[in-house]
Amino acid sequence: MKSRLLTASITALLVASIAAPNLSWASQVSPAAVQAQAVPADVLARANALIARMTLEEKAGQVSQLFLFGDPTPFEPGVRSGATGALLFVTDPALINRLQKVAVEESRLGIPLLFGFDVIHGLRTIFPVPIGMAASWDPASVEQGQAIAAAEARASGIHWTFAPMLDITRDPRWGRIVEGPGEDPYLGAALARAAVKGFQGEHIGAPGHIIAGPKHFAVYGASEGGRDYDSAFVSDSQFYNVYLPPFAAAIEAGAGNVMSAYMELNDIPAAANHWLLTDVLRKQLGFEGFVVSDANGVKSLVPQGFAIDEADAAVRGLSAGNDLEMATAEAANATLPQAVRSGRLKEAVLDDAVRRVLVAKIRMGLFENPYVDEGATEAVLSAPGHRQAALAAAERSLVLLQNAGGALPLSATAYRRVAVIGPLADSAQDTLGSWVFVPKLEETVTVAEGIRRRLGESAQVTTAPGVQLRRGTPSMFEMFRPAPPAWTEAQAEVEFERAVEAARGADLVVLALGEIEQMSGEGASRTSLSLPGDQLRLVDAVKALNKPMVAVLLNGRPLDIAPLAEQVPGILEAWHPGSEGGTAVAKALFGDINPGGKLPMTWPRSVGQIPIYYSHNATKAPADQGARYWDQPSTPLYPFGYGLSYTDFAFTDIAVDRAAVRLGEPVVVTATVTNTGARAGDEVVQLYIHQRSGRAARPVRELKGFERVTLQPGESRQVRFNLTQAELRYWNAGERDWVLDPSDFDVWIGGDSRAELKTSFTVAP
Ligand code: BGC
Repeated sequence: MKSRLLTASITALLVASIAAPNLSWASQVSPAAVQAQAVPADVLARANALIARMTLEEKAGQVSQLFLFGDPTPFEPGVRSGATGALLFVTDPALINRLQKVAVEESRLGIPLLFGFDVIHGLRTIFPVPIGMAASWDPASVEQGQAIAAAEARASGIHWTFAPMLDITRDPRWGRIVEGPGEDPYLGAALARAAVKGFQGEHIGAPGHIIAGPKHFAVYGASEGGRDYDSAFVSDSQFYNVYLPPFAAAIEAGAGNVMSAYMELNDIPAAANHWLLTDVLRKQLGFEGFVVSDANGVKSLVPQGFAIDEADAAVRGLSAGNDLEMATAEAANATLPQAVRSGRLKEAVLDDAVRRVLVAKIRMGLFENPYVDEGATEAVLSAPGHRQAALAAAERSLVLLQNAGGALPLSATAYRRVAVIGPLADSAQDTLGSWVFVPKLEETVTVAEGIRRRLGESAQVTTAPGVQLRRGTPSMFEMFRPAPPAWTEAQAEVEFERAVEAARGADLVVLALGEIEQMSGEGASRTSLSLPGDQLRLVDAVKALNKPMVAVLLNGRPLDIAPLAEQVPGILEAWHPGSEGGTAVAKALFGDINPGGKLPMTWPRSVGQIPIYYSHNATKAPADQGARYWDQPSTPLYPFGYGLSYTDFAFTDIAVDRAAVRLGEPVVVTATVTNTGARAGDEVVQLYIHQRSGRAARPVRELKGFERVTLQPGESRQVRFNLTQAELRYWNAGERDWVLDPSDFDVWIGGDSRAELKTSFTVAP
């Protein structure tokens, strides 16, 4: 009897533990985050011992980071007195050592400086812009790219990067879409993990690596109207289900820093948002690293109508959980000693922020090795393996958007005179993309140069821009890269004719179109997604010549290319592909490689459709989904996950290991993908789910698994995805927590978000 009771209660316990799985992120930090974020006790003790010896002014210095452009001399007194604890924008190792020497040898406590920089997609060796890397759907490629970026940065004396940018966005008007993972939280989370691992290596302080700083926390990508810095208003449901997952993944991967965002989230500026920076970031996600404001993000609490003055801003930023202030000049945090003395700020709050910064310096080994070996820098920056990796990454980021009549690949032997024309044909800066401050333009392979090298003696390659692309307003990065003088009207006509002439004299025309790099990035939102400038006129003029022609796009956001797609049969999306971009493009155009990237964003037909994303909810009339505007289909131009190939793939044999499971149990989904064409190629196998009923209406589809596979002609591969609690749970606005619902679930596997091969399973209570 006793043993039967025991068995019964054990069974009840087991059932209870299955029926009520512990899902709560809101009340419990994930074990992975606890482990990855743990700070060794001896490091904490060392930081505390230092804090015990610091004056209030020295403490304020540790939470003040300044921009340094140009002459370092004016910065030395602040470094010497301990008023400046961190700098950014210095990339010259000799300069870094010079300033570090002042900190280590001339300041009272000898606390080393922390040097940060925007190492976004490379330092010397430039990889594709992040949206391009996302299009590779290849976390391994992202990890490798960011590991190389880290190696080059560390060898230059940089300790920390303001990356990865993890802002999910569903508004292609927003310029910063180029810096991030696109529209999807699941893809974003996978790439976030990879980027953090790449930057940081196995642990913070790993040799040749730097601290990763996921940004901008959080919801910067939802700014109203796609206007940069504008307020974001999102529901809790969107916050947890859409915007937070990439950050949670980065923290679980051990990210040592997080940057707070500029804008107000539901009216409260992110840099002083206690709920965001303390309740969510620290208590729910378990982040133990230091938070930095965005540039002047503390001071801007004043113009945002939140803080009375900079002293108020400093107290409120710090009290909310923003540790370090990044400032272009004199930091607002310099007022903190006064705030402590007057009783406005508890010294313990300042100590917490200082401790987090010191922990980063200790873990980076800066107290033992403050200096960088200047003699070793160049060899790392110019390592040939880095260029090869950048080429491989660029190849993998290419997306074949259109290939009517098999226009691509081109024969490499059929053409004698090739015209590579358009504003993006031969511009090194635009091949590299935004956030490249120390470019080696002469080492950049443009599209024209890539084609020239690929065809060698066999063809004569001419190039002409034809059109000049210019922003309507100056870029905020003009100080680094002044825009060239605008063409006069007469000059514009001459240049246009020169390009058309080049096309006339050619037997193949490659159009390189899109956006210059300054048309995306920070402060680079647009109201239109059309090809800017006179590009379509150039397309029309070339079309009239009746020559074989294809188009390559270099750009940082989805574009409305419907008019182009009507004129040009083959269109290859190359984003801003980086140092070896032109080589990758040429290899794809002439069939040495087969493009296999996929769009990490939905491409709208027009701006009026925005926001448009695949993972929307159903309506009361789901069948009408594609016809909800009367003037245009409501389907996109290209769906999320889309990309063609020079070969074909078939998906078959979808199956679940169990058609019914209990709440909390995993389901394994398998399917077979076959290369049915005549060339080797890559397919990104994508798995989407839909929960049919429950305590909330769930999106029509959600990406919950993907794998990029390479298949030879005729080859098949079985792919396998595990749907666990992590994939099946969601944050429920009614329960205010993560939940799992009993429901029937549909599952699709295929090559984009319209995948048709389908099965289903049931989750029973
Ligand atoms: C941007 C950040 C960047 C910082 C430092 C800011 O304007 O918003 O993303 O890391 O500048 O350059």
